[in-house]
Amino acid sequence: MNALKWFRTFLAEHRTRYIVALSLATITAVCFIINPIISGLIVDDVVMGGNYALLPTLLLIFIAMTIFRSAVRYTYILIFERASQGILFRMRDYVFRRLHEQDFSFYNKNRTGDLMSRQTGDMEAIRHFTAFTIYSVYENVLFFLIAIVMIFLVDYRLALCIFCVVPLTALTAMKQLKSIRPAFHKIREQFSNLTTAVQENIGGNRVVKAFVREEYEIEKFGKENDAYQAAEIAAAMIWRKYVPAFEFFLSLTTIVLYLAGSIMVIGGTLTLGELVMVNGYIWMINLPLRMSGWLANDYQRFVTSVEKIYSTIDVEPDIKELDGAYTIPRINGQIAFRNVSYTVENEEILKDVSFNVMPGQTVGIIGATGSGKTTLMNLLCRFYDPSDGDILIDRVNLKNYDLTSLRGNIGMAMQDVFLFSDTIEGNIAYSSPGCTFAEVKAAAEIANADGFIMKLPEQYDTIVGERGVGLSGGQKQRISLARALLKDPAIVILDDTTSAVDTETEAIIQESLKYLGNRTVFIVAHRISSIKDADMILVIEDGSMVESGTHEELMEKEGYYARVFKQQYGDFD
Ligand SMILES: Nc1ncnc2c1ncn2[C@@H]1O[C@H](COP(=O)(O)OP(=O)(O)OP(=O)(O)O)[C@@H](O)[C@H]1O
Ligand SMILES: [Mg+2]
Repeated sequence: MNALKWFRTFLAEHRTRYIVALSLATITAVCFIINPIISGLIVDDVVMGGNYALLPTLLLIFIAMTIFRSAVRYTYILIFERASQGILFRMRDYVFRRLHEQDFSFYNKNRTGDLMSRQTGDMEAIRHFTAFTIYSVYENVLFFLIAIVMIFLVDYRLALCIFCVVPLTALTAMKQLKSIRPAFHKIREQFSNLTTAVQENIGGNRVVKAFVREEYEIEKFGKENDAYQAAEIAAAMIWRKYVPAFEFFLSLTTIVLYLAGSIMVIGGTLTLGELVMVNGYIWMINLPLRMSGWLANDYQRFVTSVEKIYSTIDVEPDIKELDGAYTIPRINGQIAFRNVSYTVENEEILKDVSFNVMPGQTVGIIGATGSGKTTLMNLLCRFYDPSDGDILIDRVNLKNYDLTSLRGNIGMAMQDVFLFSDTIEGNIAYSSPGCTFAEVKAAAEIANADGFIMKLPEQYDTIVGERGVGLSGGQKQRISLARALLKDPAIVILDDTTSAVDTETEAIIQESLKYLGNRTVFIVAHRISSIKDADMILVIEDGSMVESGTHEELMEKEGYYARVFKQQYGDFD
């Protein structure tokens, strides 16, 4: 499927609406024939012919037609708007769902700002097209054709005179469009840069302030702003260059009509009324020419936007559920890594890692920063698939579980804590919607968060700012821990979760974690104190598992672990 075909599937859902609306548009366009005819009759029969009795009837028809036309036009514009909103609603929903199907790699590759503009600016371009451009193009084509037919019906010689000029106007319109297209493209590109600059600055405003880089950022933004202004002005200049020629040719049509028409009226081969009538059709020729540039630009924008949106949703996620994947309500928590390697763009991040964990065991993972600890846990959650080797849970390959079962059984407190702008209760309960307040409180107690939460003015109803603004680092970590524990997972992953809390609080948390019952717990940490009591400790260095065993075993080995221990506790022995 290509982008436009994909778009048509949404359009097709509103086929009936579009057919009705376009039929109404046809009726309106045809109605435009009548008023010039009436004008002609008024001149020929009433003014020249002296049939004054006809005037009220003609005027009445004139008024009635105008009212009828307006009502029909109002109706179809409304139908277009409704259809367009319906299409947009479905598209936004579809794209949002697709975004949720994408995995970590997708979000590593795509800029937030770009993904945001797919759902905002690009959707707006589609709205404009489906609500306005479609009927405008249709109307204008009809106007043009009707006018040609009508003028030919009145007098073919007059028509030929007028149509000597029309190609000149059309040519100018085409040239204008062709030369302005790159300028319009540049505007859209520059606008996207401007949005990205704003978005990054709002997101990173604390860093900007901390390093007193406001002036630098303002200057950087100023450059983008300048470039945007320049792009807009450049487009306006191109547009303006063609305006005199364009307007000249448009009035030339009228001049030719008056010249040829007058000669014919004087010569007696055309009535004055017929001249007035043709004059009434001239706008139906000029308007489409005038609009053609804008409409072609609208179409171009629409196509670009559909293609951009389609290119984001057309990405197949790397992580796929197998056909017939297991659904399992509760796993036991036996885990085996068998020669697991993970490579990204030729960089080996994990190399040949193997270990076994029994249900209920606590595993500590330690290693230098960047050694691959988080990656190891990401593989266990199947956020990425190993490039080599297998990961088994309860003797079944991870890939055989459906993702909901797998991740539903894992409670992860991520290293990079993310809190939603919601109440504390809402943030903790995020992992298990429908839980009771007592459960939320119990989870917070295990995470040693209840104490500080109760001291807040609004306690559990306190709204935390975007990404948890207003809470300390350690407080955020404890809320994230409570969130991971609340869903009562079979496997708990704590990735650096207590790094920002003091050792005393950490000890309290560890004590309560012991009473969690039968679950497999992974604790990733830099502090020996966080993992010392684990049933098994894995030491990761440069993507390889270099040591494993209990604290005592590792101390005896006198390797990396023992060195870190001595650094942190001193060489007392
Ligand atoms: N998506 C990715 N693409 C490319 N490289 C990555 C990606 N994620 C991580 N890495 C690289 O993999 C290595 C291991 O990263 P990882 O986050 O697992 O380290 P870590 O042991 O958790 O470190 P820390 O203790 O600082 O949290 C790093 O060198 C990192 O740059
Ligand atoms: Mg990490």
